[in-house]
Amino acid sequence: MKHTAWVWALVFVASLWSCTACAGSQPSVKTGEKLFYETSLGTNGKSCASCHKTTENIKKDTAKYPGDPALKNVINGCITENLKGKPLPDGSARMNSLILYMRSVK
Ligand code: HEC
Repeated sequence: MKHTAWVWALVFVASLWSCTACAGSQPSVKTGEKLFYETSLGTNGKSCASCHKTTENIKKDTAKYPGDPALKNVINGCITENLKGKPLPDGSARMNSLILYMRSVK
């Protein structure tokens, strides 16, 4: 009986761990916001927010691109030209998070 309890405890811990791991790769507004304000997408110490300073700017810029494919293009353009970074792959959690964040700005 004691043995079974240990097995269940292990299964429980393992499921918690795998859920934390999967949450990390799910796109979210929160991850997008983090990426927007930190410098990790580029190599020149700038962030998106270095130039797109106010939420008013972000809202206006995003509204110009109602379709995601066009928005992805301009985002990747800014990453490569303005942050000197590598473009984010289409469908990646980071690209989708940036889009979620930018579209969430009110
Ligand atoms: C060095 C300044 C700079 C940085 C850093 C920068 N951008 Fe931009 N971004 C611009 C400029 C300038 C434009 C306008 C381009 C144009 O009109 O040709 C622009 C345009 C855009 C647009 C389209 C809106 C428009 O007016 O055409 C989006 C969306 C955007 N940037 C998102 C981002 C994101 C996301 C990041 C970070 C990954 C980022 N930008 C980093 C300067 C910057």
